[in-house]
Amino acid sequence: MHHPPELYVGLMSGTSLDGIDAVLVDLSGSKPVLLAKYYLPFDGTLKNDLLALHLPASNELHHAQIIGNKLARLYADAVDSLLNQSKSSNNHINAIACHGQTIRHCPEHGYSLQIGNAALLAELTGITVVGDFRNSDIAAGGQGAPLVPAFHDKVLRHPRIHRVIVNIGGISNLTDLSPHQATTGFDCGPGNLLMDTWCARRTGEPYDDNGSWAASGMVLPALLKQMLDEPYFALPPPKSTGRDLFNMTWLEEKLTGAEKPEDVQATLLELTCQTIAQSIGVHCAAAQEIYLCGGGAHNKVLCNRLADLLPYCIVESTGALGIDSDYMEAIAFAWIAQQTLHGKPANLPQVTGAAHPCILGVIHRNA
Ligand SMILES: Nc1ncnc2c1ncn2[C@@H]1O[C@H](COP(=O)(O)OP(=O)(O)O)[C@@H](O)[C@H]1O
Ligand SMILES: [Mg+2]
Repeated sequence: MHHPPELYVGLMSGTSLDGIDAVLVDLSGSKPVLLAKYYLPFDGTLKNDLLALHLPASNELHHAQIIGNKLARLYADAVDSLLNQSKSSNNHINAIACHGQTIRHCPEHGYSLQIGNAALLAELTGITVVGDFRNSDIAAGGQGAPLVPAFHDKVLRHPRIHRVIVNIGGISNLTDLSPHQATTGFDCGPGNLLMDTWCARRTGEPYDDNGSWAASGMVLPALLKQMLDEPYFALPPPKSTGRDLFNMTWLEEKLTGAEKPEDVQATLLELTCQTIAQSIGVHCAAAQEIYLCGGGAHNKVLCNRLADLLPYCIVESTGALGIDSDYMEAIAFAWIAQQTLHGKPANLPQVTGAAHPCILGVIHRNA
């Protein structure tokens, strides 16, 4: 059957603070069709400004709004590039899904805060914008995260094979697609964010390309054990986390100062791998196929170590299932925005812990 196209833009900028992933997708069929993709990295100043907003500071409310406006202009630039690339016009786009930049994720206090001025983005682009995806789930008692499992459930399930999707962004999260039960998922723990910050501090590079610096060091067993003792890892789902917990303070209070920097990096990489493998071992024990997405899927040392820790599973990129591993989340939020405009819920209460399905997001209409 032929459907008229339903075009959505998805904009994701995650906890890594690396930049904006932007996609243009046609969501009229049963599987998304990727029409254009674009990546816009953040410069160092913006990254530092965003990092600063994660902590209490003087006049932070004002700064958050000013930086939110700056983000909205960058989001608009990314949309412009997508439209030019695909020779589309703004009036062909049903909506932009704008996740925004999380600066505080505190479901335990009843909120998750993303900045990025969706109203300004709607004004700059002339396109309807859906933003603030997490707070209705939190209002219903949920974690507001992870939200992508519903999309994985829709497009990546197999009727007989037990698949697990692992997104390695700043934080790592998984989706358990067991043929025998409803989809579940949760945040495993730190993905790249501690590795990135440590690497930036000690080498000046924003991330450890392919994990080669980590590979030059040795895992420090005592440090690793201290990190693995973090109570978050043993909590039962639903659970979600962010820089609010996993930050430099969390790391530094475990360091003696005598460690070699590359050994700390090796230990952080091992922590990411072990917490993902343990999450799978404990909660998805019969998993047969693991599919990776997010920037961490480019880290060869990390992927190989993860495959070693999961000897009974096939470990591949989600590209093997037809979804570009770098744009999974941007595509997922585009789909969530489509659900919103169609008046359909998009959270999975068994994942987030919400009391009921929720229609996610706030809509800034544009004619
Ligand atoms: N070639 C690579 N080698 C190692 N790490 C990489 C590579 N490419 C990307 N990354 C990691 O992926 C991160 C970005 O991942 P991303 O999925 O965008 O996370 P987020 O959703 O948190 O923004 C980078 O900060 C970096 O840590
Ligand atoms: Mg990113």
